[in-house]
Amino acid sequence: MPTNHTIVVLPGDGIGPEIMDQAVKVLKAVEKRFDTTFTLEYGAIGGAGIDEAGVPLPDKTLALAKRVKVILLGSVGDYKYDTLDPKIRPEQGLLQIRKALGLFANLRPVKAYQALLHTSTLKPEIIDGIDMLIVRELTGGLYFGEPKIRTETNAVDSMTYNVEEIDRITRVAFDAAMKRGKRLCSVDKANVLKTSQLWRDKVERIAKDYPDVDLSHMYVDNAAMQLVRNPKQFDVMLTGNTFGDILSDEASMLTGSLGMLPSASMGATGGYAIYEPSHGSAPDIAKQNKANPIAQILSVAMLLEYSLDMPQAARAIEQAIADTLAAGKRTVDIAEPGSTIIGTTEMGDAIAEQVLSAQLQTV
Ligand code: IPM
Ligand code: MG
Repeated sequence: MPTNHTIVVLPGDGIGPEIMDQAVKVLKAVEKRFDTTFTLEYGAIGGAGIDEAGVPLPDKTLALAKRVKVILLGSVGDYKYDTLDPKIRPEQGLLQIRKALGLFANLRPVKAYQALLHTSTLKPEIIDGIDMLIVRELTGGLYFGEPKIRTETNAVDSMTYNVEEIDRITRVAFDAAMKRGKRLCSVDKANVLKTSQLWRDKVERIAKDYPDVDLSHMYVDNAAMQLVRNPKQFDVMLTGNTFGDILSDEASMLTGSLGMLPSASMGATGGYAIYEPSHGSAPDIAKQNKANPIAQILSVAMLLEYSLDMPQAARAIEQAIADTLAAGKRTVDIAEPGSTIIGTTEMGDAIAEQVLSAQLQTV
């Protein structure tokens, strides 16, 4: 009997549903090649949640997520919700589900693809060989700190961190560094922010438990500059919520496109995890068969590896993507002269087919 795994699928808004369809195709290919079956349970989040139940995170969706634990998410947000009360904006659905499931650790791997070296806005020699991991704190800091106030004439957001929050994300980053190149760069703004001073002190103390890891600290403004000057200096980068949000968008361009960057959000206990692209819902190109589904498909690979212990299937997907790109197939965001521009659906088909055939040779 093949093993069955249940996965919650939350396509969301904008390009979410169409890139999710491609991820599902790839899951079907994995079913055929590996001795496993997937039960997919769909739910609404973001604007889709507002349309279905009046709120960005419907109770039904949260209950489903809590029961099943392993979640594949598309993206949330659409211009049509811009005029709503900020409390029920689609983005709140994402923030709420991360908080409700305690997913404080967001892992965003950034890898250069050989075939895309010439499509980045940076010189190929700067990005060739990049292999870094951004570990972003996800449920604290400026996006969650209280008070949050808005009046006609004044607004307040609060940046807060306590030592427990810093401790647990820092350990995730050190543990990741131990499994990788043993270098950790902690990003802060300790020359100005109290939260960053606490952050730096705590990171220093935890470093004593990881004598093999080479720790450095970098101010966030410098980190933004270093990412485009010499990105290969980084192995694991540890950040708070807001800095990681910004720097991970920046880092995604090192791979050629924001459409290439997956992410995993994990908690300490309970096995809850959300896998989603790092990019947004791009409503301007939704339903035009233009969106790049690769970040979504790479999120499937992360899900298979981290939540379902299927590293071979994860490698098969990564290889399928590399081979598809090497064959010159590109969505428009990663196109270059000489490449064949294909749509979202065709990219999904090509990668799914490649998973089927590549797998035959390797396993
Ligand atoms: C991300 C997104 C979200 C975030 C938004 C949509 C709330 O930008 O996952 O990076 O800031 O965390
Ligand atoms: Mg972001």
